[in-house]
Amino acid sequence: MQTEENKDVIYYPEAGIKKAVEEFETPFFVYEEKRLRENCRNLRGAFTKYFPGVDGKGAFQPLYAVKANSNPEVLKIIISEGFEFDASSDTEVILGQKLKVGGMFTGNYNPASELKVAQDAGFILNLDDVSMLDFFVGDGALSVPETISFRINPGVGKATIASNVFAGPNAKYGVPFEKAYEAYEKAKEMGVKHFGIHMMTGSNVPMEDKDYFAGIIRKLFDIVADIKNKTGIEIEFMNMGGGFGVPYKPEEKSLDMEVVAKSIRGAFDEKCKEYGLKEPRLMAEPGRFIAADAGWLVSKVIVIKDSYKKFVGIDASSNDMPRPSIYGAYHHATVMKESDEKELVSIVGRICENNDQLAQDRLLQKCEIGDIVLIHNCGGHAFAMGHNYNGRPRHAEYLLQENGELRMIRRAETFEDLYKTTEV
Ligand SMILES: Cc1ncc(COP(=O)(O)O)c(C=O)c1O
Repeated sequence: MQTEENKDVIYYPEAGIKKAVEEFETPFFVYEEKRLRENCRNLRGAFTKYFPGVDGKGAFQPLYAVKANSNPEVLKIIISEGFEFDASSDTEVILGQKLKVGGMFTGNYNPASELKVAQDAGFILNLDDVSMLDFFVGDGALSVPETISFRINPGVGKATIASNVFAGPNAKYGVPFEKAYEAYEKAKEMGVKHFGIHMMTGSNVPMEDKDYFAGIIRKLFDIVADIKNKTGIEIEFMNMGGGFGVPYKPEEKSLDMEVVAKSIRGAFDEKCKEYGLKEPRLMAEPGRFIAADAGWLVSKVIVIKDSYKKFVGIDASSNDMPRPSIYGAYHHATVMKESDEKELVSIVGRICENNDQLAQDRLLQKCEIGDIVLIHNCGGHAFAMGHNYNGRPRHAEYLLQENGELRMIRRAETFEDLYKTTEV
């Protein structure tokens, strides 16, 4: 049941999803335009309050991590809220070109050809290592860009899931912070004129760590000051990455963006004064915070099995939303019916892997064949991570528009889609 306390995770647009179930075959994803826009405004509003871009205070530019949900209709909504792209591949850059938006390209271990696509599209290149500067030297090299940023590994990272820790000694990302100045110096010698700095330390940083982001900023300023001392380079923009956590479990709380932005303002004031720095422009590149709680995977119960445990088989599987299977991630499940009768069940799919358990050992409304089961927080890093294992086509995506109408924004895949790159 939805209450004021648990509404963050348990929330779903009941009337819209009921209508979708009446009109369309399950399984499918539904994204809610209203919540997408609210999330964009919540983040952008909090940051622009403290980084208004007037009176000598730096401006704030939000980017959206396209990898979280790259459906073009979802992207159009986010772009219309003032976000540019954080692109991680040449394909995401091309998508940006088609939707007429620029931004920053943050890849890792990419070939020169991929950087060229981003450079030609006017994206700021955010390089993952000093060795990538070699792509700009010698015969047939890329032209040296006016502006460059480096992704820095601060030596520590944080996330709720171990493989979502993106910094520290075991992380494959970024330039070790002690060596950062060498990368900037080399770029300056090559003719680069403008510089930025980037850090992305982890994904889904938990709510109770609201000071974590100000800590990242402080660390970035220490590195910025070191670069300035050693090379004379003034860093003009600072991208603090994404990673803002969202509640997945009913007892978890939403990150208070106002508090986060205010603490970052404090870190800016403190560090610019300490080091005598001109304030850089601030950027952030959230994915999950914008999209995750604006989407649901809607499925139907097709098999109920009384085994050593009770398994409820639905018509969606881990290939549709792999987070539980790859990280053991928790996603809340709701059986859409009013009933006081509850039982302990595991919600499973049809993939031939035992980790195809979308919700394990949950006390849920007693299920019957045909009941509708929602998996929450499926707007970001959900469909986008999906795959076709076991020959399973991916399902349709619908947008619940602000006017209450539903619109198909991606049709379901067919056998022909899966094999169109072969001779079968
Ligand atoms: C470089 C980079 N930026 C931003 C993001 C978005 O992270 P989140 O969705 O946790 O905000 C990711 C996620 O993998 C990332 O790798």
